[in-house]
Amino acid sequence: MKITLSEAVQSLKEGKVVGVPTETVYGLAASLYHPNAIEQIFKLKGRPKENPLIIHVQDVDIIRLFATFWPPDMESLSRFFWPGPLTIVLPVHSQTIPSIVRAGLDTAGFRIPNHPLTLELMKEVGPLVMPSANLSGRPSATKVIHVEEDFGLDFPILDGGHCKNGIESTILYFKENRWQILRLGSLPAEEFEKILGYRPQVLEVRKEEKPLCPGQLFRHYAPKAKLILGECEGSISTILGFEEKDYPKGKKVYYLGSLYHPESVAENLYAVLRQLDNEGVKQVAVDDDFPREGLWLTIAERLKKACYSKNSQDLEG
Ligand code: TXA
Ligand code: MG
Repeated sequence: MKITLSEAVQSLKEGKVVGVPTETVYGLAASLYHPNAIEQIFKLKGRPKENPLIIHVQDVDIIRLFATFWPPDMESLSRFFWPGPLTIVLPVHSQTIPSIVRAGLDTAGFRIPNHPLTLELMKEVGPLVMPSANLSGRPSATKVIHVEEDFGLDFPILDGGHCKNGIESTILYFKENRWQILRLGSLPAEEFEKILGYRPQVLEVRKEEKPLCPGQLFRHYAPKAKLILGECEGSISTILGFEEKDYPKGKKVYYLGSLYHPESVAENLYAVLRQLDNEGVKQVAVDDDFPREGLWLTIAERLKKACYSKNSQDLEG
């Protein structure tokens, strides 16, 4: 159910949960100061309590109130990339942020999203915690109808149109004297080189260790259809591919976008994965013959996660 900006302000101030647009994906928002609403987010999504939430603010000075450490280059990163699809994890004064938001960690993730409606909303309501507005384990939502698919037609949503980036923010963390990537996202690693003088590496998740980015352990971005990477020349007649290519074996081809515009693929990705489910597709071969650099690396990672079978050992998240 679409609601106006002032209705969204009122609902959030009253401690309700609202669907909110960002430039990456839709978020399921609650005020940082309404713990019951934050609890409700976990219930609505079916999200494990071990998976912390990102705090969204409209101004970097607000983050200074929470953080106990301001890493080198924090200033330039924030000036260059915010508002935008970057989340930065920082150590925080734990008493300033409810434990449920941090999943008990002594850090929190912060982001200034680049969407005019959401910036306006936060001016009125203050910091908003929001995970992506999808049921845990489902592809994220990039349109109002996706949020409705997962949470029902009566669920209140502030309509901000189609999320133009289409893939979640990139998460950075300063560890061992370097910035490292906790989650690949819609800001490619190469983009940070001009600010940092080096390319941050992706921090590998080792299950035996205490996870630095708990969300990476959970099953994600999965449609109901079984996705198989490659094998577009084989016996599977439904294909997920690119506009410029021909798929002689494909009886039905779903197009992700252009091989020359990874941005178009990122924008469409989750909508196409959801479409597969809506059309009852059981099995699809994914054309994985695309570059492995820039935004393509994020796209490859999301597709790989979408391929995990329902029977995989990974926790549902
Ligand atoms: O683009 C985005 O980031 C979207 C929009 C709505 O802003 N949000 C989003 O939230 O993707 P969510 O909850 O779906 O993913 C948040 C990720 C999870 O993998 C979580 O584990 C990680 O951020 N995270 C949050 N706080 C963290 C922390 N203190 N330390 C490490 N990872 C953290
Ligand atoms: Mg998510």
